[in-house]
Amino acid sequence: MSGDPRLTALAASLPAAVPFVGPETQERRSGRGFRARLGANESVFGPSPRVREAIARAGAEAWMYGDPEMHDLTRAIAAHHGIDAAHVKVGEGIDGLLGVLVRLLVAPGDAVVTSDGAYPTFAYHVAGFGGVLHKVPYRDDREDAEALMAQAAEVGAKLVYLANPDNPMGTWLSAGEVQTAIAAVPEGCLLILDEAYADCAPDGVAPPLAPADPRVIRLRTFSKLHGLAGMRVGYAIGPAPLIAAFDRVRNHFGVGRVAQAAALAALADTAWAGEVRGRIAAARDRIGEIAAEAGLRALPSATNFVTVDCGGDGAFARAVLAEMGRQGVFLRMPFVAPQDRCVRVGCGTEADLDLFARVLPTALSAAARAA
Ligand SMILES: Cc1ncc(COP(=O)(O)O)c(C=O)c1O
Repeated sequence: MSGDPRLTALAASLPAAVPFVGPETQERRSGRGFRARLGANESVFGPSPRVREAIARAGAEAWMYGDPEMHDLTRAIAAHHGIDAAHVKVGEGIDGLLGVLVRLLVAPGDAVVTSDGAYPTFAYHVAGFGGVLHKVPYRDDREDAEALMAQAAEVGAKLVYLANPDNPMGTWLSAGEVQTAIAAVPEGCLLILDEAYADCAPDGVAPPLAPADPRVIRLRTFSKLHGLAGMRVGYAIGPAPLIAAFDRVRNHFGVGRVAQAAALAALADTAWAGEVRGRIAAARDRIGEIAAEAGLRALPSATNFVTVDCGGDGAFARAVLAEMGRQGVFLRMPFVAPQDRCVRVGCGTEADLDLFARVLPTALSAAARAA
């Protein structure tokens, strides 16, 4: 506990770290640029040409603040899903929305439930507002919805977090399994259903929207399928009173003017979304083939990355990851055992995956020598 003596007791007690070490930080440390950027679950296929044009047009207007109500974008999202705009709140990516949601619902000491090894930014926000995290292990490399709900009931949780499809494993629960989980949300608790990858997934993964349901809030993003991670736009779909409550604490000018224009154009370009879905599916297959050729097993994925079991323990996978990085391929991996036996490979371009295929056997040999 060091730092500025004026910090609150809570802030002083927190680790001085962000959940992720960015690829840029790694490049600065090593003095070398990555040749394939496959570790941050971005979309290497980028935003569509139409979105790029919209960004260029909006660039000339960047001297103006964005519309703090995000009126046009909110209505376009509502129309896209066939729901009322009162059920939609746009924010600075899912990460930003998670922070607001935790701030609205979690007082210091309140119980919150998540999976051990799940998306760390949620846990980061909970810690930042003084919530107490209770963690449930994965089961068979999937989030265990039944155990999450049982734990939420046991500890009287205010929030329970479930990502479907999941990061870091890429695995998913069926829409039916999610609906069973929603039915089991304890009284007084809210399920955060993080669907960052829902639009990369096949049908039957996301249950139909029921936005007035007070038991669940669903989070979506323009960072994945739409290739706009650098713009920071996501949205929540949930019951109107909870959605309205975001206005009490959110950063009203947080989603910039260019970002709003980009997201609006992305939503309209359904042809590009279809094209990218196809490229993601092809890349998932290719990663599976490359893994198999190297004697490894790729986990089934409904996301824009594939989690590959390196066949050893966490130390072995960390050695593989480090060698991949030295060879110019940026990957990440799960933090917690036994999932940390895997590395996570983004759906890259053909050139990215050619490089991944070339480097993987060398990285495996290097890790085996180090073991
Ligand atoms: C499960 C999950 N939720 C949220 C995010 C972040 O989304 P956004 O870019 O909208 O903040 C990610 C990004 O990797 C993710 O994996």
